[in-house]
Amino acid sequence: MSSESLDPRYTIKGATAEQQQAVDMLARQFLLTDERLAGIIKEFRRRMEEGLAADGKMMKMIPSFVTRRPTGTETGSYYAIDLGGTNLRVLKVTLDGKGGATSMHQKFTLPEEAKSRTLFDFIAQCVETFLDDHNIRPTGHQPPINMGFTFSYPVQQTSINSGTLVQWTKGLNVPGCVGRDVVRLLQDALLRLGLRVKVAALVNDTVGTLLSAAYADPSSQMGIIFGTGTNSAYYESASNIAKWKGPNPKSGEIVLNIEWGAFDSDEFSVLPFTPHDIKLDRKSINPRKQAYEKMISGMYLGEIARNIVLWLADQRLLLDGRSSEILNDMWSVDTSYLSSAAVDNSPDLSEIQQIIEKTLNVPNSTLVDRQIFKVISLLVGERAARLSSVGVVATLTKRPDLLNNHINIGIDGSMYEHYPDFERIMSETVSHFIPEEQFKNITFNCAKDGSGVGAAIVAMLAEQN
Ligand code: GLC
Repeated sequence: MSSESLDPRYTIKGATAEQQQAVDMLARQFLLTDERLAGIIKEFRRRMEEGLAADGKMMKMIPSFVTRRPTGTETGSYYAIDLGGTNLRVLKVTLDGKGGATSMHQKFTLPEEAKSRTLFDFIAQCVETFLDDHNIRPTGHQPPINMGFTFSYPVQQTSINSGTLVQWTKGLNVPGCVGRDVVRLLQDALLRLGLRVKVAALVNDTVGTLLSAAYADPSSQMGIIFGTGTNSAYYESASNIAKWKGPNPKSGEIVLNIEWGAFDSDEFSVLPFTPHDIKLDRKSINPRKQAYEKMISGMYLGEIARNIVLWLADQRLLLDGRSSEILNDMWSVDTSYLSSAAVDNSPDLSEIQQIIEKTLNVPNSTLVDRQIFKVISLLVGERAARLSSVGVVATLTKRPDLLNNHINIGIDGSMYEHYPDFERIMSETVSHFIPEEQFKNITFNCAKDGSGVGAAIVAMLAEQN
């Protein structure tokens, strides 16, 4: 392919032939044609079927034990604990009976010690602080407070409020938890503090996102997170889940947590790996795992870009071969820098200059350096957005009957909210694989705060049961 056929945005004004050649090579590595995507979607569907048939497969397809939909008319206040990768929130969610919810929350940053050792005791302390600060700690005579617990990691659920941790993903790595019931671990920590709190529901963040979207719009079928990690949950018909041994739900449906971040893990057979992805994977805490997540989500994109920057610098094609202590540190390029760089249209690319020279501490960048940094940001981000469509298309086309009526998809996460054009590129790519008549039935909506609100809704549904 000649450089002329590549996107004109990848032409660097004032670049040397070697610099332009290197950029063109990157552009070709990161280019994902529809034909290539079609092959990836097919494999994704095959892996979904495999996960529906048996446990322990690449895509876990985990039954969440949520079998009902909220109607949107429920009212009342419910509590939730929302554990993400870096923060913990304790919330009180009030449902207004008209599909709307308001929440009041307290946010806590996970200290390093909690991430590596004392996680569940830390969560219990935060719950205690919340109850005391709001003067709602139940005394010995009062009934315990029910709380939903959003736990954004793969858990093999054994009931609505129990499940064993399959593995840690994203940044957490607390020893002694894999294979154990995370509700038990939390409940024990709450007991140690003498708190009358019952963990009434264990909810993946994607399940929460779906349920909060369903409270606002009953036609919601999928909940997706494009954030630090990525994953999705959807309503599957129980008869399609061959491995399901539980009772057939009255509704005929069960919400499944796909754990799609694991797609192509171990095998590395279909995703478009570049040497920069492989380098990231090799140095991550979970090599060969979460392959799809590592190309899409906020935890990793900055690191892919950092690998590219250093690869170019090492050939003296960028920053005159210079780097800095910060730039040499793994994870020092935050994905938010790419979001800012992608939309820097100032004549001298001043935002990018700021990132390179001030944040990353590499002085004297040239305009050519900054243009190249921008192209790297576009390539990494746009590949992520196009690849995101794979999971969406594979899931939607699994239940094609649903596409004949309006269906809503609730989405939350920093990539979706902040990455420029992420939604447009993702949905436009989806439209290439779904007939127009059906595509127009789909809406994508931001389910802001879905994971916390959703956990409270699941706690409410569990209470009704
Ligand atoms: C990771 C977790 C998954 C979660 C997702 C989004 O992929 O394994 O459970 O839903 O991140 O937070």
